[in-house]
Amino acid sequence: MWFKPWKQNTESTDQVAMDRLPRHIAIIMDGNGRWAQKRALPRSMGHRSGVEALRKVVKACSKLGIEVLTVYAFSTENWKRPKDEVGVLMTLLTEYLRKELQELHQNNVIIRTMGKINDLPLEAQRELAHSIKSTRDNTGLVLNLALNYGGRSEIIDAVRKLSKEVLNGKQRIEEIDEHCFSETLYTQGLPDPDLLIRTSGEMRLSNFLLWQLAYTEIVIVEELWPDFGQKALLEAIKAYQKRDRRFGGIHTS
Ligand code: IPE
Ligand code: IPE
Ligand code: MG
Repeated sequence: MWFKPWKQNTESTDQVAMDRLPRHIAIIMDGNGRWAQKRALPRSMGHRSGVEALRKVVKACSKLGIEVLTVYAFSTENWKRPKDEVGVLMTLLTEYLRKELQELHQNNVIIRTMGKINDLPLEAQRELAHSIKSTRDNTGLVLNLALNYGGRSEIIDAVRKLSKEVLNGKQRIEEIDEHCFSETLYTQGLPDPDLLIRTSGEMRLSNFLLWQLAYTEIVIVEELWPDFGQKALLEAIKAYQKRDRRFGGIHTS
């Protein structure tokens, strides 16, 4: 049911232009706690509703034909939260993969991850490995899950990797350039995000994709993550399509 033909209308300014879609959308899914607080519910209920929003957004991106969706699900700093909350987040991850894998697979989604996966609970690691393996030959949307991810630690990892290669003679210092560095990051092989969406109105990066966001268009929306869905996604894409991306240059015509 995911692939109903999308209503195409590139003439009206009110529609998403299907020929100018962002290739890669990155999302900082924020505001689950506040969503729950507003309803006098435990934070865990906010996270549970957040998973529903993720499900809708993955579906919408897949249907639209977006190439890559990177979602910030757990940061290296999120370990600072109470143990119970961390536990809920890890359980929800495992549950999400178990429940959704079949549908994701049927819809041609490729699952990949970025972050220090080895430090996640073993059950989550096992479920991730299984999901990655089962979907690796698919050809549709790449769903990139940022888990135990930190932008600074990603850069440090890349520096360590390149340094080792220099020391063992596999890499020449003179040949380390931006392209080579990008290809050493967790996002190896993926284009940089064109659009970054952060929900819940916060205007910060919180250690997300520090290198890759250099020229990304940023759309901050007020909705809390559990309230975000297909409609809000389309609005964010429309906002992106109104931007003038100059990449430091000027327009000559
Ligand atoms: C985002 O929602 C989910 C994660 C960080 C895992 P929050 O839990 O940060 O929600 P707020 O910001 O407290 O409302
Ligand atoms: C960013 O949200 C991390 C994720 C969405 C996973 P946080 O809620 O952790 O960020 P801060 O603490 O408000 O910067
Ligand atoms: Mg938050």
